[in-house]
Amino acid sequence: EFKPLVFSGVQPTGNLHLGNYLGAIRKFVALQENNDCIYCVVDLHALTAQLVHEDMATQIRSITAAFLAAGIDPKKHIVFNQSQVPQHAELAWIFNCVARIGWMNRMTQFKDKAGKDREQASLGLYAYPSLMAADILVYRATHVPVGEDQKQHLELARDIAMKFNLDFHDKIKPTGLGIDIKVGEEPVHAYFPMVEPLIDGPAPRVMSLKDGTKKMSKSDPSDLSRINLMDDQDAISKKIRKAKTDPDALPSETEGLKGRPEADNLVGIFAALADKSKADVLSEFGGQQFSVFKPALIDLAVAALGPINAEMRRLMEDPGHIDAVLRDGGERARTRAEKNMNEVRDIIGF
Ligand code: ADP
Ligand code: NA
Repeated sequence: EFKPLVFSGVQPTGNLHLGNYLGAIRKFVALQENNDCIYCVVDLHALTAQLVHEDMATQIRSITAAFLAAGIDPKKHIVFNQSQVPQHAELAWIFNCVARIGWMNRMTQFKDKAGKDREQASLGLYAYPSLMAADILVYRATHVPVGEDQKQHLELARDIAMKFNLDFHDKIKPTGLGIDIKVGEEPVHAYFPMVEPLIDGPAPRVMSLKDGTKKMSKSDPSDLSRINLMDDQDAISKKIRKAKTDPDALPSETEGLKGRPEADNLVGIFAALADKSKADVLSEFGGQQFSVFKPALIDLAVAALGPINAEMRRLMEDPGHIDAVLRDGGERARTRAEKNMNEVRDIIGF
């Protein structure tokens, strides 16, 4: 049996926000209990949108501090930054030659991030999903906790894995891992597993607090649109109080959230923070005004984020400790990646 292995990454760019926490980091923490997990600060990805970062080292430490403060155990699992393991970039090159231009052209995140002047986007931004596939598959990871915005990239990772498996099927040695595939009626050996995205939960896509149709994002120019993990109690409280809503009371059932994106978003955030379903939240608050619901949401957000915020600040005072955690994780990650890359080089014929 192929052992489940969890991998995910976060870019060291800008402020981490509630969307990153609920869509990703909080799930990383929960998955530790029953799985082998690898969590990566994807610093190579940070170059795709902007090459020069004055504060790259601080940003890397800050994401690492968020991982640790949220409760990730870097001794039981692996926490490191991507650039320490050059095997990611090596496999990405091979995947650039597996992936088809037509597949890449369908990626909606590239279209969003490249904006109008696509000719001026970096080649790296275009190839980003191929590097992401390599990040995951260089460990032959099987499960990837991410926000909904990453769904299309994970489908691409499966397409790349499948094409590699098929194109090299007669070079791939039996793994005995139960991931074999069929060519026609013939069972053949596969090397890369089909990754499963883990996108469930009541807040797979946290939306902007100012505009319920846009996702909460690091790059939104309005700081009121997002709750940052480093926001203090006053900032959290102010942003939730000012969050856009409609004038109606909360509905009694999830059906009633249809066509009310701002209400849906706040209820989803509440549900995720309280570990409840949206239906549970509505059975508690249905019929009540936002003037009642928002203070309860503020209390919940402050209680969830306050301790993380405080621990991040404490950890950031000792950069040497964070760097040591990353170095240790980097070494362990490199050993595992190199073992697989050796096999990939053999399969290709290098
Ligand atoms: P960002 O998208 O903010 O630049 P990353 O690309 O580093 O951040 O994403 C880190 C993780 O956070 C990914 O798993 C991504 O899907 C998740 N994520 C980002 N924004 C949101 C959001 N608004 N809601 C839910 N998950 C999100
Ligand atoms: Na993203």
